[in-house]
Amino acid sequence: MTTPPVCNYEGSDYQTSFWDQGGREYEDRAEAIALRRLLPKGGRLLLELGAGAGRNTPRYAGFERVVLLDYSTTQLEQAQVRLGRSDRYIYVAADIYRLPFLDGLFDAATMIRTLHHMTDAPSALAQVRNVLQPGAVFILEYANKLNLKAILRYWLGRQKWSPFTLEPVEFAVLNFDFHPKAIRAWLKDLGFSIERTLTVSHFRVGWIKRHIPPRLLAALDGLFQPTGALFQLTPSVFVRSKVEGARLKVNIPTDPVALFQCPECGSGDLLEKLDHLQCPRCEANWAVKEGIYDFRAKV
Ligand SMILES: C[S@@+](CC[C@H](N)C(=O)[O-])C[C@H]1O[C@@H](n2cnc3c(N)ncnc32)[C@H](O)[C@@H]1O
Repeated sequence: MTTPPVCNYEGSDYQTSFWDQGGREYEDRAEAIALRRLLPKGGRLLLELGAGAGRNTPRYAGFERVVLLDYSTTQLEQAQVRLGRSDRYIYVAADIYRLPFLDGLFDAATMIRTLHHMTDAPSALAQVRNVLQPGAVFILEYANKLNLKAILRYWLGRQKWSPFTLEPVEFAVLNFDFHPKAIRAWLKDLGFSIERTLTVSHFRVGWIKRHIPPRLLAALDGLFQPTGALFQLTPSVFVRSKVEGARLKVNIPTDPVALFQCPECGSGDLLEKLDHLQCPRCEANWAVKEGIYDFRAKV
């Protein structure tokens, strides 16, 4: 099966250069406010897609267990340093286009600052939909092409692409901005009903960030976030949607190995070997190393 290209973060210092030393305390705090508003109070098993170094993971404290999924093992290693290894966190290296989980497993999922690397966003979202239970909550953050700065640049003739058209724009290699209407249509087509939309990062402008302390700016952002229900003109948008259908009592296995299915042939019941998992049907082997289940390529 061929899948779209992956924006590879292997060996990247993203967490340090972009967040810790990149002057983004305001954005981080604003996201924390949005997540507090959108997350369910609690739940059993949350899937974090594109978890990176686990920057947001501590915010999912209401959930019994969290699966951190990322294509990059070095990002997951950084997450392990931050969160530690315990039964509470399950670290999985895999491609979002080829998720290695049983269908209808999770009661919640988040995908933050990750859809913007997806060349084929609808098929990535379809993968997410497959592994969610009926009634599950999905919190999606996406980069918005219809943002105020892009609109002004377009009107002033400084940007060729139109922020008003529905197709995604690849503003840098494997970095996409999306139109809010397109995101809504994709979610609805997949059987999600949209419950709440928040606009985030209203003040992502250099001189404002230099003059107003991040904590205050994030609090102001929080005041404006609910306007997302009416219009979305910020660079970042958070949407909470729910899988249609009534919540069922789903049996979620406690053994992490029992959560998986072979991404090659779709078989469950993977066999646990010394340093890998083996598919009983197609005999594909998947490495398990330093607490990370690796489903990117067969070994
Ligand atoms: C911009 S980072 C965001 C990390 C984290 N969500 C945060 O907000 O701090 C995007 C993450 O998505 C991961 N990613 C990109 N494409 C992926 C794919 N196809 N499958 C799994 N992870 C992917 C990258 O490895 C990277 O860690």
